[in-house]
Amino acid sequence: KTPVIIDTDPGIDDAVAIFLAFSQEKILDVRGITTIAGNVNVDRTTRNALDLVGHIGKNAKIAKGAPKPLLRSLKTAEEVHGKTGLGPVVLKESKLKFYEKKAWDLIHEEAEAWDGELEIIALGPLTNIAITLIKYPDIKKKIKKVTLMGGACFLGNVTPSAEFNIYVDPEAADIVFQSGIPITMVGLDATHQALLYEEDIENLTSRKNVISETLKIILKENLAFQKKVAGLEAAIMHDAVAVAAVIDPTIIQKKHYYVAVEKEGFFTYGKTVVDLNKVTKNSPNVEVALGVDRLRFIDMLKEMMKTYELL
Ligand code: BDR
Ligand code: CA
Repeated sequence: KTPVIIDTDPGIDDAVAIFLAFSQEKILDVRGITTIAGNVNVDRTTRNALDLVGHIGKNAKIAKGAPKPLLRSLKTAEEVHGKTGLGPVVLKESKLKFYEKKAWDLIHEEAEAWDGELEIIALGPLTNIAITLIKYPDIKKKIKKVTLMGGACFLGNVTPSAEFNIYVDPEAADIVFQSGIPITMVGLDATHQALLYEEDIENLTSRKNVISETLKIILKENLAFQKKVAGLEAAIMHDAVAVAAVIDPTIIQKKHYYVAVEKEGFFTYGKTVVDLNKVTKNSPNVEVALGVDRLRFIDMLKEMMKTYELL
């Protein structure tokens, strides 16, 4: 089993990612969830994390993280995730309480406890991970890997150049990318291949279980959003693809490249600059997901639905 911390800003696709992670308890040991401001503010993302975990009857240490990016003011994404962060989904308020420590202290605590085995799955802006590295510089040796949803070689979704999670806190992303910790970047190049069409949504949610109703609402909402803004006939659950890549790394096609984060460009800040042509001669610091096997991703979601039927 891989011990993991999920750093997240739920977020409708974060919600699906959390459901997916807890459905694979033979492979992932979710030690904790750290929350970050991103899609909505950090009080909301923390509330959502507690309610999502409570909804599926699980438990984890859930620690609150930074209320804003390192240097910039917070940019949220209510247009995609709604005012509460969970679109039209309304969950019962769970009785779970958040952990008394801050996100970076929980990451530090678990990294020390697992002595080099802990992995992080980062599904929001990278502020908490950057703060961990600033506060505990030696901890990088004890984090086995960071798999993050963010960035892209070719696409942008908040500007033509930048993906949301990197754009919100490029300074934090830069610290993480330069840290020397092994990184797998599951960016838009891959997630935009994991399309969930109407038919897939119907198939996935046709049998009742504890998450089927919520999943259906989330996928339909995102399908409608994608149709409206991109003319796309499919839902995209970015963050779930990153979790899938940790559960089964062979689901993504990937290659090592040198990647830098643009922090200054007027049109381009927040872009992950991937040296695809090996122009810089810098050593690769990131394993970049270039594609994903869509059908195997859907199979994984189907398996998740079966697991929750048994609950
Ligand atoms: C990323 O941005 C957020 O809005 C999503 O939750 C995902 O993590 C996609 O660009
Ligand atoms: Ca997210």
